[in-house]
Amino acid sequence: MNLKGRDFISTQDWKKEELLYALDKADELKRKFKNGEPHRELADKTAFLIFFDKSTRTRNSFEAGMTQLGGHAHFIEAQTSQIAHGESPKDMGIILSSYGHAIAIRHDLVPGEGNSYMREVAKWASAPVFNMQCDVDHPFQMMADLMTIREKFGQDLKGKRIAVSWAYAPSYAKPMSVPQGLIMLMTRFGMDVVLAHPPEYTLMDEPMAHARKNAEENGGSFTVVDSMEEAFRDADIVYPKSWGIQSLFGEPEKALEISKKYTHWICDEEKMKLTKESSIYMHCLPADRGYEVTDEVIDGPHSVIYQEAENRLHTAKAIMALTM
Ligand code: CP
Repeated sequence: MNLKGRDFISTQDWKKEELLYALDKADELKRKFKNGEPHRELADKTAFLIFFDKSTRTRNSFEAGMTQLGGHAHFIEAQTSQIAHGESPKDMGIILSSYGHAIAIRHDLVPGEGNSYMREVAKWASAPVFNMQCDVDHPFQMMADLMTIREKFGQDLKGKRIAVSWAYAPSYAKPMSVPQGLIMLMTRFGMDVVLAHPPEYTLMDEPMAHARKNAEENGGSFTVVDSMEEAFRDADIVYPKSWGIQSLFGEPEKALEISKKYTHWICDEEKMKLTKESSIYMHCLPADRGYEVTDEVIDGPHSVIYQEAENRLHTAKAIMALTM
């Protein structure tokens, strides 16, 4: 399978076989990394990483990943580049791809902007464009999540129940791209995906439509409920996290006021008792400890958060190695 030159902006853009091929590559690179075997598959290549938002895992998995693959990643903060003076996505795409071999972008804070920005860069760039999180999807996180789920439950995920639930967090209006990415990707693997949220926290129409269609086509199911408890009942996987209200990303104080009605949407040990004994607790991180989840759960026996975060490195490297 030849994926050279391909953009990775949404998991929806790639065939299932292509995603599985990338996961096999991630397994191989994880083994090599653990065994200390060199794997300089991108020697002398350069990736440009453009950030419109903060990051710990994404930035460092891409930077470390490029180093380990024998290449180099440049960190570009949108605010300190000419993007802040209005330089166009067309010019960024043409110019940066003439200097290197990939352009990765995080642009996730404003609904309606990030995905179209990166698709415009991709239209003009002669190198692959990667989505390091936008308003619609967070495909590299999704690949790490799927890798972690397969490591825990094996390759046949048909019938596994995953609860993707909203949770309260006072820190900031987190993007909607993680729950949207989850409902789009996990429905492609025959899983029973249950989305739970209070009425104000609906997701975008397009990912919801993809999730419904994917479930129909792949023998799983996609349901929406309005209680975390209902979603957690008999779940194999729980993924409770906060996200913002689509129409209020520009009005954080109003959004925070609404969210305060739902402080009981916390993942605690009582709710974990509703899940299967073998269930796993996932979170893309950073988590608001004590609000989205209790310390007992996030540090407890069900939690796979560190394995999940580690897999960000291996999946980022796999996709870069296959496409650049
Ligand atoms: N999960 C994730 O994307 O983490 P960062 O925001 O730290 O990159």
